[in-house]
Amino acid sequence: MADSPVPPPVIELRRVHAAYGQIEVVHGIDLAVSTGEVLALLGPNGAGKSTTLKVASGQMEPKSGCFHVMGRHVNGMRPDKLARAGVCTLPDGRGIFPNLTVTENLRLMTFGGPSRSQVEDLAFTRFPRLSERRHQVAGTLSGGEQQMLAMARTLSVEPAVLLKPRQVSERGLRPAHHRACSRRRHGPHRLRRDPRARGRRRHPPPRERLQGG
Ligand SMILES: Nc1ncnc2c1ncn2[C@@H]1O[C@H](COP(=O)(O)OP(=O)(O)O)[C@@H](O)[C@H]1O
Ligand SMILES: [Mg+2]
Repeated sequence: MADSPVPPPVIELRRVHAAYGQIEVVHGIDLAVSTGEVLALLGPNGAGKSTTLKVASGQMEPKSGCFHVMGRHVNGMRPDKLARAGVCTLPDGRGIFPNLTVTENLRLMTFGGPSRSQVEDLAFTRFPRLSERRHQVAGTLSGGEQQMLAMARTLSVEPAVLLKPRQVSERGLRPAHHRACSRRRHGPHRLRRDPRARGRRRHPPPRERLQGG
């Protein structure tokens, strides 16, 4: 039997240059992230890490070079369309609605298709602490709990890749976050490879989502 072809990286930057006006700040970066991989972009202040993430999330168009998602050239594609294709950004800061409760914050993630019980199951399994505090107003959660909620909201749409500015080194992620991310990497991708796994398939794979517009 022929070997199945190696899938392209989920996201790839090839010789990407980025500039603010006339001032170029990213000078030809190459990077690729495949399914199940974790890539940390490290560097001193001003090195261009945030700018690179802006390019990878569609908030900024490269001055030159190529931005690929699942092997498709997507320079200039809007962030909302990239998000539908599975490229999701965990916002810098908390990325939650502080005046809403934990469950209300989670319920807002059902707009993309998953049911309320799916979103809550995923969130409360990964972060049992959120389950204990489901009726609490999010703005009164501790900083770490707010990060769990932000992470749970983002993971509920089962992103193909999660872009996460800064928090890891500067604010410090607790081990629970890493465990949740790790489950995310090894769990839902199995679903994607075999749509019959566990008898359901929540979202089309990113490539289909891109092709579907
Ligand atoms: N909105 C902006 N307008 C002009 N220059 C910017 C803007 N954002 C960042 N820069 C400049 O781009 C360079 C890279 O910044 P940045 O990508 O934020 O670096 P890092 O995240 O690695 O600290 C810096 O010299 C910074 O001053
Ligand atoms: Mg930065």
